[in-house]
Amino acid sequence: MTRRFRTTLTERLGIEAPIILAPMGNASGGALAAAVGRAGGLGLIGVGYNKEPWIEREFDAAGNTPVGIGFITWDLARAPARLDVALARRPKAVMLSFGDASPFAGRIKQSGALLIMQVQSLTGAKQAAALGADVIVAQGIEAGGHGATPSDGRGLMPLVPAVVDAVRPIPVAAAGGIADGRGLAAALVLGAGGALIGTRFYAAAECLGHANAKRRLVEASADETVRTRIFDIARSAEWPLEYTGRALVNDFARRWHGREPELESAIEAEKPRYTAALAAGDTDTMVVWAGQGVDLIREVLPAEEIVSRLLAEADQALSGVT
Ligand SMILES: Cc1cc2nc3c(=O)[nH]c(=O)nc-3n(C[C@H](O)[C@H](O)[C@H](O)COP(=O)(O)O)c2cc1C
Repeated sequence: MTRRFRTTLTERLGIEAPIILAPMGNASGGALAAAVGRAGGLGLIGVGYNKEPWIEREFDAAGNTPVGIGFITWDLARAPARLDVALARRPKAVMLSFGDASPFAGRIKQSGALLIMQVQSLTGAKQAAALGADVIVAQGIEAGGHGATPSDGRGLMPLVPAVVDAVRPIPVAAAGGIADGRGLAAALVLGAGGALIGTRFYAAAECLGHANAKRRLVEASADETVRTRIFDIARSAEWPLEYTGRALVNDFARRWHGREPELESAIEAEKPRYTAALAAGDTDTMVVWAGQGVDLIREVLPAEEIVSRLLAEADQALSGVT
């Protein structure tokens, strides 16, 4: 029988498995979040740039299973009423990433939801602690989707114990490149209370992402990922320059990565092409966000199966450490 993982994180969140589903915009919907919750973890609905009706729909899709929700902080600041809609659904937790959380932290905590904050540095972790974060996610440069630019980014392995020491007793979840139970075990050994996992759950049956993107994740190697701004330029997503996104290298990336000013000049022609590729699920052009753990993803599985394998593998990995 797989061991029971009782950690600072499971205790704070009131969950059985030390696993949080990352709030992946347009990918972590209510069905996926609920499946992770049923498996013992905490599922977070990923708002991304979506508006109120999308939020309502995905809470409905989660049904009665308690879930949380995650916002991109700088985008929330542009349409803050979305937080009220989310809080009215009584989420178990609200996660904020990427930007100034101070306008929102107090309201989230007053609502009774736990405040989870994702950071990329020790400085960010101390700021999150000062704002009253209940859980701090230490995100390494390995992570899929957005994170610190390569010049400022930190590797997960040294970041996690440094953050754990700096914010104790606040529970820390490790994020970035964790896609199997060995990675989860490593996070626990580094002092984290668990892991926040994105890319592995993108290749879950319940994920809202396109089937072609899931197929690419199964095929791809992390030798072929890049942190880049080009997909944000193509979608006119106005990310602050300190953040880039890690994605699979495809034809679009080969053409434009490193030529960002040229892409900006060509955007009138490129944007409609990009939008059409997105609608068609054309992974040669559209972004497929992926972390460096993508090598370890070999099949699309139901989320509950992913969680149970993560736990069994972590158990085995920890038993093998002498
Ligand atoms: C497809 C995808 C979309 C993401 N979207 C968001 C998002 O909307 N908000 C957010 O806070 N993080 C987002 N992330 C980053 C995750 O929060 C997390 O840091 C990351 O997935 C961890 O690395 P991993 O993907 O290697 O597990 C996204 C990640 C992926 C893979």
